[in-house]
Amino acid sequence: MDNVNSGRDGRPILEVKGMCKTFFTKERTVVALDHVDLSVHTGEFISLVGPSGCGKTTLLRIIDGLEQADAGTRTLEGVPLSGISQDMAYVFQDINLLPWRSVLDNAALGLEARGMNKKDRSERAMEVLEMVGLASFATSPPYTLSGGMQQRVGVARALAVRPKVLLMDEPFGQLDNFTREALQVEIAQLWAKLGMTIVFVTHDVDEAIFLSDRIALFQPAPGRITEIVEVDLPRPRDEYDVRAHPKALELRSHIMSHLRAGKGMPE
Ligand SMILES: Nc1ncnc2c1ncn2[C@@H]1O[C@H](COP(=O)(O)OP(=O)(O)OP(=O)(O)O)[C@@H](O)[C@H]1O
Ligand SMILES: [Mg+2]
Repeated sequence: MDNVNSGRDGRPILEVKGMCKTFFTKERTVVALDHVDLSVHTGEFISLVGPSGCGKTTLLRIIDGLEQADAGTRTLEGVPLSGISQDMAYVFQDINLLPWRSVLDNAALGLEARGMNKKDRSERAMEVLEMVGLASFATSPPYTLSGGMQQRVGVARALAVRPKVLLMDEPFGQLDNFTREALQVEIAQLWAKLGMTIVFVTHDVDEAIFLSDRIALFQPAPGRITEIVEVDLPRPRDEYDVRAHPKALELRSHIMSHLRAGKGMPE
């Protein structure tokens, strides 16, 4: 596959500044985000890594507009955002397909929400199902698909809207190791082929190193980004080569010690 995406080109597509979010419950007050800044470059693959509860999902939800921040701003291509952005798409950790709809109609959901007519959305949904290798399952109900295939439909649903930025929250977290590795390779190929910008949340340091141009390291209580590391490894990458690459080993050990120095460990 041609690698039309040579990684980040230095221009920010998405900018988050001074993001703050505190949750108040009867039992406790949690500072989920404490003045978080993040600049995402056009075409880059950036991962957010950190221990459970450090605010990764909260940041991703705020970026998409699913959650409202207490303070802070976000801009896409320099334009300030408010509310849910139509230019971004979100892949959830939970595989949340609608059981009563076919695979094709699930893949078309975001297009329907954006008001596209049935013919066009079916065509577009079919196109993305082909990209993820599921065209022959278009008329099937989701429950007849494996977990990995269902998450592919989740990816297809997000790709269908041709988002400027794709937000992925631990999308492979529930999958077995083999399926997870296969999907990591697929998403790396799709990212390269489509020239997408991806913000990807994961607990898995190796997954982050394999996929990313940069990795933002979080620490909890209060949730914040404490370091952003560059992943200076050639592309396209092979998962097994990357694992054994001296630079990757060095990076892994740096990330692990950074995270250990915080209050928690990645799972
Ligand atoms: N709706 C909510 N109400 C109260 N507290 C919340 C809410 N959402 C998140 N929190 C708290 O905010 C903190 C950050 O949560 P968040 O889900 O962003 O963490 P995370 O880094 O995504 O964790 P994980 O890796 O386990 O998914 C946690 O302490 C969590 O308990
Ligand atoms: Mg989370």
